[in-house]
Formats: sequence, C-alpha cells, structure tokens
Amino acid sequence: MVNTILIGAQWGDEGKGKIIDVLTAQADVVVRSQGGNNAGHTVIHRGTKYILHLIPSGILRRGKTCVIGNGVVIDPLALVAEIEGLGDLGVAVGKNLLISDCAHLVLPYHRMLDEQRELLKGRAKIGTTKRGIGPAYGDKAARTGLRISDLMQPVLFSEKLQAKIRENNSILQAFGAKPISFRQVNESYLAAGEKLRPFVTNTVVWLHRALERNKAILFEGAQGTFLDIDHGTYPYVTSSNTTAGGACTGSGVPPHRMDVVLGVVKAYTTRVGEGSLPTEDAVIADMLHEMGREFGATTGRPRRCGWFDAVAARYARMINGIDELAITNLDGLDSLDVIRICVGYRLKGKRLEVPPCDAAQLEDCEPVYEEMKGWKTPTHKAKKFTDLPMPARSYVKRLAELTGARLTIVSVGPARGQTIIL
Ligand code: IMP
Ligand code: MG
Repeated sequence: MVNTILIGAQWGDEGKGKIIDVLTAQADVVVRSQGGNNAGHTVIHRGTKYILHLIPSGILRRGKTCVIGNGVVIDPLALVAEIEGLGDLGVAVGKNLLISDCAHLVLPYHRMLDEQRELLKGRAKIGTTKRGIGPAYGDKAARTGLRISDLMQPVLFSEKLQAKIRENNSILQAFGAKPISFRQVNESYLAAGEKLRPFVTNTVVWLHRALERNKAILFEGAQGTFLDIDHGTYPYVTSSNTTAGGACTGSGVPPHRMDVVLGVVKAYTTRVGEGSLPTEDAVIADMLHEMGREFGATTGRPRRCGWFDAVAARYARMINGIDELAITNLDGLDSLDVIRICVGYRLKGKRLEVPPCDAAQLEDCEPVYEEMKGWKTPTHKAKKFTDLPMPARSYVKRLAELTGARLTIVSVGPARGQTIIL
C-alpha cells in the first residue's frame, strides 16, 4: 500500500477536497498536518454539500480513520461545531477521528489580533480569513502557545490562559480593541475540551503503528504551494508549510515513508486574498463568477481568477517533488474559444523561468502566453479520457508536460463520478 502526500500546487482551492474524497476509497487513514479552519474543502456526495475546515475530507467515507496532526492549529469551538454539523448531516464522528495532543490552539485573541493587524495594514493587508491562524502560529514559534495537551488539564489550562489573556488584553488595548473576558473563554474552551477529550491521543505513535501494519495513509494538504510560509508569495501567504515537507513535520511520519506526491491544480488559476497573481484576467473571472463558480468556501469571497500559470506549476513540482498531477475544474473552461497558458514571466525585459522571491518583483512580472484552441463542448459527463474532446485532451496533456509531472486524474465536476482516472 502506498502513502500519498496530496498538496495544492497553486494558491489553494485547487479542488483538493474532492480528489481526497475520491482517493480515500483506497486509503485507510487520512491525515491533516497543517493549517487550521482557514481551509475550506468542499465535497459533494449524493447531492449533499459538505464543507470541511479542520476535519480531513476522508471522514465522509465509512471505515477510514482521520487524524488531525500536531502541525494543525485547532480552534476547539470551531472543531466541536464541525463535528456536530457533520452529525446533523448523518456523518458519524467517533472512533474515526483522532486529534494530536501536541496541536496548538487558536484562541479568541488570535482572531482579534488577526483582524486588528489587518486593519492597521490598511491597503497593504494580506486578506486573511480572519480565523487567527497567523497569530496562533506566531505564538507557537514564539514558544508561548497553548496546546491541546494543556486543554486536557483544566487547572493548568486556566492558569496559562489567564496569563495569556492578561498579556493579550494589553496588546488589544493598544490597538484600541475591546478586551477579552477570561471567564467566558475559560468556560467555553474547557467545555469544548471535554467534548474533544475522547479523540485526543499521541497521533505520532498511532500513525507509526498504522505504518507497521502497512496501512495506506493519505496526507491531505490545505491551502497551496504559493501560500506556503517559506516558498509562497511572502508576505501574502498563510503561516504554515503547505508544501510536501509539511506533511512530515506536521504528522511525525518521516520522509522516507512517503511514496508518492500528488499535486492538484485547477485547469486555470484562482486566488483569494491579496498578493500577486501574474495571470489574473477579468474576462475569465467574470465568466467563472457568472457561472456561479469560484466563491471562497470559508469566507464566501469571490476568488480572483486567471489563466493557468505553468511557471508557478513547474516551481511547485520542484518544491514538492510532484510525481503525479490531478487537474480539476476542466469543465470551467468549456465555453472558451481560445485558452491561454502562461509559459514564462518577463521582468524588465528579462525572461524568468521561476517566480522571483520578492513580492514587488513578482507584481511587475508580465506573463508570456501561448494559446490553445478551446473545445466549446460540455465535458462534465466525460467518464474516461477518450470521452473528452480532442482539444481538451491536448490542453491537459500540455499542462502536465509544462509542469513536468505524470497526469493521473482529470476532474470535470464536483461529484465523485466526475473523475477521470488515467
Ligand atoms: P490566513 O491563512 O487566514 O492567515 O490567510 C492568509 C492568506 O491565505 C490569505 O490570502 C487567504 O485568503 C489565504 N488562504 C488561507 N486559507 C486558504 C484556503 O484554504 N484556500 C485559499 N486561500 C486561503
Ligand atoms: Mg478551499
């Protein structure tokens, strides 16, 4: 059985949730290793739409174990709400969910600081999801964070929380924001902690036992390569390692136990929030929004849209070691006459083959395009590769060729059945 790391190779929202849901059929365990409830993975199954934020998308399949690893930051109230929301939709969450005791907590002051810092930045804002993700990882790196293991020890938790709230209230005061009530946070978090207690364990040990028993593990990436804290378009990034290496550090499974890296890309490009998007294009954005597509699953914001960026995809292949490529949302391009692909950047007359590190330089990059013929035929009913119109086949093959990875999946709609396996 193979262990697979699945990552987003663009700016997030590549359709990872749907691909994970399909691949979970062959996996025993699905692991989230980074990010928090900034993520929004949409899965449509039997006409019901599920949006998952913290729980791995594998939860929708019976008999699979889902693990929230040490690298994730958890807002306990949001997690309890998600568990209960799934219950309401008939998805039982019990022994099929495990939560790492080392995962850090997102607290209300993280959310408030996230909001205040964005306000202070004004036009230079990052456009975060305001879920407190940056400040929570900030505390983790500063070694002042609270973890699930703290929450499991109420007396200790209350003591640490009181000190943290005192400190953060003075910071919030400096921002001119309202202070936070210790009592209220303490009560609500401890109550959520009790609901989460049955799921909490040492997930590193559990995962290593699963490895010994040859279980197939699927690592579910959240966000995308260009939102990675190290490799993304800094500072317009999220605060975790969204790239393949994050699956190891965020789970405690070592690199040599990973077998395959699967990169997921849309047949075009989207981004939510601020920061450069070299291939951004109003025509394709209007077309997709008119079709009712490309609105954020977490915040409802319309996503920015552009042509496929092969410069970015190639770089993502390099960083993640992408072996296999899944191309999603091909059907979104069904009505176009001509489709553009960005094959290079031009910066001050010089051609670049990889994105520059500097945000201002990236902003100045002009995409160099090649054009392909559109297929002007609906593709959402295609079941196998040869059902696709010839120009659509040429298009996805070209994307894989430019990316430098083997094309293994093409998705032509949100349902499980709308997935072509090559
Ligand atoms: P944060 O993760 O909330 O701090 O947001 C930082 C940046 O990452 C913003 O541009 C967000 O829009 C973006 N972002 C965070 N999570 C996701 C996601 O799951 N999909 C797409 N963009 C995301
Ligand atoms: Mg999403």
